[in-house]
Amino acid sequence: MRSVLLGVGGQLPSRVLTNEELAQRVDTSNEWIVERTGIRERRIAAEGEKTSDLALAAARAALTHAGREAKDIDLIIVATATPDLTFPATAARVQANLGVTHGAAFDLQAVCSGFVFALATADNFLVRQQAKCALVIGAETFSRIVDWQDRGTCILFGDGAGAVVLEAQAQESERGVISTFLRTDGRMHDLLYVDGGPSETGAVGKVRMQGNAVFRQAVEHISGAMLEACARAETSIDAVDWFVPHQANQRILDGVARRLGIDATKVVSTVAEHGNTSAASVPLALDTAVRDGRIKRGDLVLMEALGGGLTWGAALVRM
Ligand code: UT7
Repeated sequence: MRSVLLGVGGQLPSRVLTNEELAQRVDTSNEWIVERTGIRERRIAAEGEKTSDLALAAARAALTHAGREAKDIDLIIVATATPDLTFPATAARVQANLGVTHGAAFDLQAVCSGFVFALATADNFLVRQQAKCALVIGAETFSRIVDWQDRGTCILFGDGAGAVVLEAQAQESERGVISTFLRTDGRMHDLLYVDGGPSETGAVGKVRMQGNAVFRQAVEHISGAMLEACARAETSIDAVDWFVPHQANQRILDGVARRLGIDATKVVSTVAEHGNTSAASVPLALDTAVRDGRIKRGDLVLMEALGGGLTWGAALVRM
């Protein structure tokens, strides 16, 4: 069996927050943000607009694109670090709002690597025939956990959601998830974390990051994960048509491309418009490049991400 990616969808809140607006709140400038991150603007969820709302809209778009209906879905995984509530899972709310009344739905927490982890998880369910058709969603409202006084982090993040539909199909075609690679190293917990949670503080908390240290880890581990995913598929980086990275910082995208000798025109970048949407960033970038016609059926796509944990990983998919 293969997990074939049938459709992709995205959802962004309508409110645009520009660098200029941020420069009125904290000691920063549009020039600094663009030069150090590539980010020009990001989207911010409206009051009352929840992670599950963004996830639901992205899921519906992915279902339409896939030519499937909600009733076909028997597995929903929402990768998020910003769930609606501590519990139940945001995925349970998405399931109910889609009108799905069978199968399983749960959240997965790997922060910015969440979508890649969720894709690998769903692939295992489908290949083992424990589910037939899965919605894999990355959805975040990071604006709710950003410290808007901290210029080192508040300039980076944005809100949004992206989703894909994966279906188990007999392995006749080349299409589908070919290989995945996941890693966690909990020793780097304190490089990127939220300083609150139900068990430790009883409060939601805010994002804390040693940006420069994370940056140094990112280029090395992302490159390694990409090479490993290719090695597991017995292919090479040169065979990949499109690279869909986690959108943390344009300098990380450029650094990885330089290190692996990747032509910059093959790297999908949405960081300028979306900022870092954590678990949503990879499926949002995928959606952008599928919809504008760059990524076509049959293309070999390599996705990658690194986030809090630290977690990192990559997934190689034939579209
Ligand atoms: O998605 C999960 C993974 N996350 C990431 O991959 C994020 C990785 N990190 C980054 O993207 C970068 O480290 C940042 C964009 C967060 C920061 O860029 P940097 O080039 O690593 O800057 P830095 O942290 O080394 O700080 C350099 C200087 C400092 O000033 P001093 O100490 O040299 O005087 C900072 O205080 O830049 C200052 N700075 C700012 N200045 C203007 C930090 N943030 C800002 C800001 N505006 N927004």
